[in-house]
Amino acid sequence: MTQLQITRPDDWHVHLRDGDVLNHVAPYTAQQFARAIVMPNLQPPVTSVKQAVEYVDRIVHAIGDSDFEPLMTLYLTDNTSAEEIILAEKSCFVKAVKLYPAGATTNSSAGVTDIRKCDDALAAMEEAGLPLLVHGEVTDPAIDVFDREAAFIDQVLMPLMNRFPRLKIVFEHITTADAVDFVLNTGLTIGATITPQHLLLNRNAMFKGGMRPHNYCLPVLKREQHRQALLHAATSGSNKFFLGTDSAPHAKDKKESGCGCAGIFSAHAAIEMYATAFEEMNALDKLEGFASFNGPDFYGLSRNTETITLERTPWVIPDAYPLANGETLIPMMAGETLNWKLI
Ligand code: DOR
Ligand code: ZN
Repeated sequence: MTQLQITRPDDWHVHLRDGDVLNHVAPYTAQQFARAIVMPNLQPPVTSVKQAVEYVDRIVHAIGDSDFEPLMTLYLTDNTSAEEIILAEKSCFVKAVKLYPAGATTNSSAGVTDIRKCDDALAAMEEAGLPLLVHGEVTDPAIDVFDREAAFIDQVLMPLMNRFPRLKIVFEHITTADAVDFVLNTGLTIGATITPQHLLLNRNAMFKGGMRPHNYCLPVLKREQHRQALLHAATSGSNKFFLGTDSAPHAKDKKESGCGCAGIFSAHAAIEMYATAFEEMNALDKLEGFASFNGPDFYGLSRNTETITLERTPWVIPDAYPLANGETLIPMMAGETLNWKLI
């Protein structure tokens, strides 16, 4: 196969940031995807519909005349009110609410300290059909960092689903066989996104020949057996799994530091990297469902109608991309060759 045409995909989980960084990174996402679910973990976080309106304006400005559609999210806090949820649902452009357990990851300090404090907001979301997007890791420092997703399933997710059985939930950026099994064996209210890095890399990639900060994200990369489980899930044809890059840009200096930020930037070549992973499984015929159909179907949105074409043309990913003020961004697979190219 030398060409692959699929319905234009969407990215169901991306960090576009704000200010100068937004202006530099948003065009990469707009070039590949028709729509994207935009994460609200700015500083300060996007906790209200009013802030989301202002943020969406800045995104639209950053992408210029592209017809890319940003789908906005609110950042759940201990104090999110049912009224704010109702406003979000009425807004039509806020499509989901994001749960960051406080302290779990980048800009999560304003996140939820105890999910039971959010009962009013969660009940309103269940009623409104507004999905909850979960960063599924416990924050207990006694739990090993590689076990935090599995612990989250037992300690938080299962009790939450029992209390709100009709609440739609997206288990974001799943990284383990445990999460795959849970999503597959639980009802239709739960779906999951999978990133390119968790399909293409295992945890060895963080330590190959030395510390590799550009392969560090949260949830952290896991063992090969987990990568295999994710590959099987993504290519299985199950409509519960869909594309969410979690592309999370940080300036090079912030990654290459004594306390480097978590996050991998993948928006420059996301669909090509997914194609690479699906090809590894001889499953390119399953890419369109995963990338273009399962996400909108889960969210109850229409599928895109236009198409994109990938061509089998080897190309070398640049070593770096420019950011403002002389800063640079090191992309996923910097300097490596990809065999698929979006044309
Ligand atoms: O690696 C990550 N980076 N994981 C997250 O959950 C947040 C993200 C970011 O915002 O940089
Ligand atoms: Zn994220």
